[in-house]
Parts: sequence; C-alpha cells; structure tokens
Amino acid sequence: MLKTRFTELVGCSVPIQQAGMGDGAPPELAAAVSNAGALGMLGTARPGGEEPTNLAKLIEQTRALTSRPFGINFIIDERHESTRIPRASFELAADAARVVEIFLWSAPDPTLFDLIHRRGALVSCQVGSCEAAVAAVASGADIIVAQGIGAGGHVLGTVGILALLDEVLDAVKVPVLAAGGIGSGRALAAVLAAGADGARVGTRFVAAEETGVHPVYSEALLRARAHNTVYTEAFYLNWPNAPHRVLRSSLEAAQAFPGAIVGELPSLDGTMVPFRRFECGVPRKDASGAIEAMSLFAGEGVGSVTRFQSAAEIVSELAEEAESLLRRWGASERVAVAADA
Ligand SMILES: Cc1cc2nc3c(=O)[nH]c(=O)nc-3n(C[C@H](O)[C@H](O)[C@H](O)COP(=O)(O)O)c2cc1C
Repeated sequence: MLKTRFTELVGCSVPIQQAGMGDGAPPELAAAVSNAGALGMLGTARPGGEEPTNLAKLIEQTRALTSRPFGINFIIDERHESTRIPRASFELAADAARVVEIFLWSAPDPTLFDLIHRRGALVSCQVGSCEAAVAAVASGADIIVAQGIGAGGHVLGTVGILALLDEVLDAVKVPVLAAGGIGSGRALAAVLAAGADGARVGTRFVAAEETGVHPVYSEALLRARAHNTVYTEAFYLNWPNAPHRVLRSSLEAAQAFPGAIVGELPSLDGTMVPFRRFECGVPRKDASGAIEAMSLFAGEGVGSVTRFQSAAEIVSELAEEAESLLRRWGASERVAVAADA
C-alpha cells in the first residue's frame, strides 16, 4: 500500500486522484474510484452542472454510491461570465465533499477558500505554473495539482510535468499531485519517485466502464497514442482563450465538418442543446450527431488506454504496477511510505 501526505490528509489509501471532467466524471465514476481507495472527483463543468439544484442531485447520487471520501471539481475563469459559479454551489460542495477543487484560471479568492474551510472541506487547486501554486497556497489551498502541458482537456500548464513538479515541490509545503499524461503505473511511480504525493489521472478514466462519455469517444481513445493528441485553441466557442488537448482526429473532423451544428447534447434538465462546430464540451453518452467532430479531449498518456476496464481495475493496476517498480528501485520506503499491505 502506498501512503503519502495526500492519502493521509484526504483519508484514502491509493495516491491517485481521478480528474473532475464534467460529464466525463459522473457520480458513478467518482464513487467507483473512491470505493477503490483513490479519490474520486465529481465533475460539475457541464451544462447546468454548477447550478445548486442540479449539483445537489449529483451530490445525492454520489453519496448513495459511496461512503468514502470524494471531491467536487469546479472551474473558475473570471474572464468569462459563463464560468461564474453561485456561492451556494460551493457551500453545497463543501458540506458534502472531503475536497472542493478549483481549476484556477483566475487569481485565487481567499474568501472562497475560507468559506470552504469553514464548512469542513479541504481546498485543492489545479494550477499550471509555480507562481500560481504559490499564490494558491498563500490564499489557503491545502493541496496543489500541478498540471503539465501533456494533460488532456483544458490545459493551463505550458511545460512538461516533471519540470513543473520540480519547481512546485521546491516552492510549496502542502501535498502536490502531478497531472498530465499519467496513465500507467510506470508514470505514477515516476512522479512519486520525483517527490509528488500522488498523481491526478484523467484520460485513462474516460474509458472506464463507469464513464459518462459517448462510446464513439471512448473507442477513439483505445486506438490513439500520444502523438495522436494535439494542443490547440481550436474548440473555442463557449470558452475562448483556453488551450486544450484533444485527439487530432477530432480537430480534423471538426475542420472538415460542413455545417455549423455538429450534434446535440442533452442538458441535465433533459432539454436538447445544439453542439456547435468548434464548441468545447464532453460528448455525453446520450449526445447525438457527429461525435467524432466534437472536442474529444485526451492527454499524452492516452496510449495506456488499451481496453475498457472498471475504475476499480484501473486504480489497482496503476497502484500495483507503481508499487512494484518503487520496490524494485528500493524507493518505496523513502518516497511513498510503504505500509504493510
Ligand atoms: C475529458 C476531460 C475533461 C476534463 N474536464 C475538466 C474539468 O471539468 N475540470 C478540471 O479541473 N479539469 C478537467 N480536465 C483536465 C484534468 O483535470 C487533468 O488536468 C487532466 O485530465 C490530466 O491529464 P490526463 O488526461 O493526461 O490524465 C479534463 C480532462 C479530460 C481528459
């Protein structure tokens, strides 16, 4: 068993945090990951997902499926009205979850962190630079997720994960997770050996059996490798100036698509919403249309997605592989305290 400052603080047994991924991280996935001993994260960045009434339902569904610690992820980007989130949603999240996480596209707000703390939750911040990590900790963040440029989905990081991790570990004292392109036990072992307290894994879980995404999307992941992803700002319509990493095939399909609307996405209240060409969003299971031309987010670790597996299998495979490598290097006692399994 791998114990780190992250597992101790959060109360889980595996140093893996599943990424909050909007519709890609529904209650079923978050709960399955938490039940497997890692930290499951409920995604809220979905049409209507951050509204208190809808969020309360998502929380209720998650709680019905797990009694283990889980987290709730939000994106804050003050540059855009569309990402303004009601305070009531943070209150609901902090009352229900062990970790409330903010993907920080704007300066951190210490009053928000204070509100989350007062309601009993930890604050995690995903950042893309050392400066942002320092600012988040100065504002009260308990956990930092350092995101490298190899990450899938929206990407704040501008450099590779190991270079960023080095800087962040020198600069902050709170537990640090590494994110971006980590899909195998080898990669998990590497960031643990480098001093991280765990890894945040997104793309690998998109193809989990409990995923919320459309099968056309998860099947495309099975066929892709790192060089089939591209860092771009092409899917910009509902969130401009926000780089992201997608499957190159989805970008090419969107470029070749003849019309303005590629398909439809049901929102949480059941109404169908058009999905425009070059809009960004996670194509849900029940989306329709040219799924292959929607923003199919994927990180550089996509080559590790080789088959459909349950979230529990993914967690145990990553943890066992990492632990055996750390033991082989004689590093397990030093970097990630190995308790008796
Ligand atoms: C499908 C998908 C959707 C994502 N949506 C979000 C999100 O809503 N909030 C967030 O903080 N990060 C989101 N991310 C980024 C992740 O938090 C994380 O940085 C990334 O998945 C790590 O890289 P990996 O995908 O290579 O594991 C998303 C990633 C993917 C793949």
